[in-house]
Amino acid sequence: MSDLWWEKTVIYQIYPRSFMDTTGSGTGDIAGIISKLDYLKELGIETIWLSPMYPSPTDKPYHLHDCGYDISNYRDINTEYGDLEQFDQLVAEIHQRGLRIVMDLVLNHTSAEHPWFVESRSSRDNPKRDWYIWKDGRGKNGKKPPNNWTAMITGDAWKYDEHTQQFFYHEFLDFQPDLNYRNPEVQEEMLNTIRFWLNRGVDGFRLDIIHALFEDEQCRDEPFAIPLPFTSKYGLIKKTERQLHLPETIDFCKRIRETVDEFGGKFLVGEVHGPAEDQRKYFGDVANGKSDGLNLVFYFNSLNTLLNVKKVKSLIKTAESSFADPLLPTWVFSNHDFPRRIFRLKNDIKKAKLNAALQLSLRGVPCIYYGEEIGMSNPTLDPKTSKDALSHHLRLLPAVSRNLIRHFGLLLNRDEARTPMQWSSTENAGFSPPEGLPWLPVNDNFKRCNVEQQEKNPGSLLHCYKRFLKLRNNSPVLQSGALKIIEHPNFPSSVLAYERYLVDAPAKCLVLLNLSNRAEHFSVPYQNGEILASTLSQSKVMVANKIALEAWEAVIIEVEGIAS
Ligand code: GLC
Repeated sequence: MSDLWWEKTVIYQIYPRSFMDTTGSGTGDIAGIISKLDYLKELGIETIWLSPMYPSPTDKPYHLHDCGYDISNYRDINTEYGDLEQFDQLVAEIHQRGLRIVMDLVLNHTSAEHPWFVESRSSRDNPKRDWYIWKDGRGKNGKKPPNNWTAMITGDAWKYDEHTQQFFYHEFLDFQPDLNYRNPEVQEEMLNTIRFWLNRGVDGFRLDIIHALFEDEQCRDEPFAIPLPFTSKYGLIKKTERQLHLPETIDFCKRIRETVDEFGGKFLVGEVHGPAEDQRKYFGDVANGKSDGLNLVFYFNSLNTLLNVKKVKSLIKTAESSFADPLLPTWVFSNHDFPRRIFRLKNDIKKAKLNAALQLSLRGVPCIYYGEEIGMSNPTLDPKTSKDALSHHLRLLPAVSRNLIRHFGLLLNRDEARTPMQWSSTENAGFSPPEGLPWLPVNDNFKRCNVEQQEKNPGSLLHCYKRFLKLRNNSPVLQSGALKIIEHPNFPSSVLAYERYLVDAPAKCLVLLNLSNRAEHFSVPYQNGEILASTLSQSKVMVANKIALEAWEAVIIEVEGIAS
């Protein structure tokens, strides 16, 4: 069994702008996070991942910044949230409670306002020129982009700069120029930034679009890119062998790992989009039960997985084969970029409870998004007033393309997943003081859906999360055991069953998920069985190994012996 704390941890993502505003500015702040640490401790999570709080041009109009994912100083805190002294206090308060803190690090690109980029674009011979990726254009007057590369978010990945008459590369929005990781100075600067925050006591990093760090050195065209009707040039469908998942990126991940390992007891979790076999590469090579790349990588296949036996089984099987022991999958169902999971489950609370039981009983590290524990959902917000720069970028897309993008489960207006945390049924849902105006509208359902109310109701989603978190936190089997999907004639076809077990320990956990609208009655084929938790009841028992599962109910049962 592992003795590495992060292998057993549960992560909780805070989007700081939307968590708790103590000043009435309308945006969350560090003091707000500190004021809610007891809530998080009591919830039962351990690791807090904070979306970026570094200086970023958040004083500019919204369509010109990415709310922190465009950093203009890697070694400070945005005054919106507080300052470094308050940050140090946050770290201390988190550690006092036995919790951990993970920073979000955007290594791929900076803000166009970062002094490095300001210098870089000032002249072709500026010492910082080579910190970014500059290329001559094609065509007679050099105004055609250097190649056919598109940005991750559709549209050209190159932007022409009149002043120096070259193009710079941006994998994301055009105010997020990519750093040039082929320059050793850039590499050293970023590794030292990592040391800077580790010296301040942080416990790890979430690495933003880390799969985009390096691009093809010769800048060759992507060999395959289909022009689609919704961008000026090439569309979403492309091969990405020149822009993403380059071997050099994996090598640099190993250097980041070495740097983090200088400190001991820290971990890295990567944001890597793509098939599981590409994600697998980021763990590096495995020898003696250890990998030498990133410790964890978010497994995103879960975001759009439908709740039926076939789909969930295949989701689990892919995770188990792609991230087999000693690797671990990181289970994420919602975050600040995608529709919230409950929204995709048509706001069905029973399904959300089942989803929680699934997430907290799988092998791997669960990652919960703020508000997921109370079932916060996506309101439909008018794209015309959106704050999300990505939504602004996509505003001219024709309807056919918007539908196509939605079909892939992508959010056209990420504001919808970032609305203020719903703490209570008072003004502003308790997020901002009554005189404040929250930066995004509070979801209309806040009077019904908030922490204060759910605390009082033992049948709430919040209490369901607490029960399953408590169980997991006290169960070495659930934290570290292996997973086996169980097929048995006793189980109805709509019930998914898997065991969690430790070699040499007789007691196992059997997880049963009723993925249907029907109640199911059957007998559980084990020697003994005690129900440890149910999503829909606080006191469920089995008599003579017979179980009755309500529609969409999930249970964890302690069993012994083998299914026979
Ligand atoms: C990641 C972040 C997203 C951000 C983008 C650019 O995907 O999760 O919010 O806009 O990278 O940094």
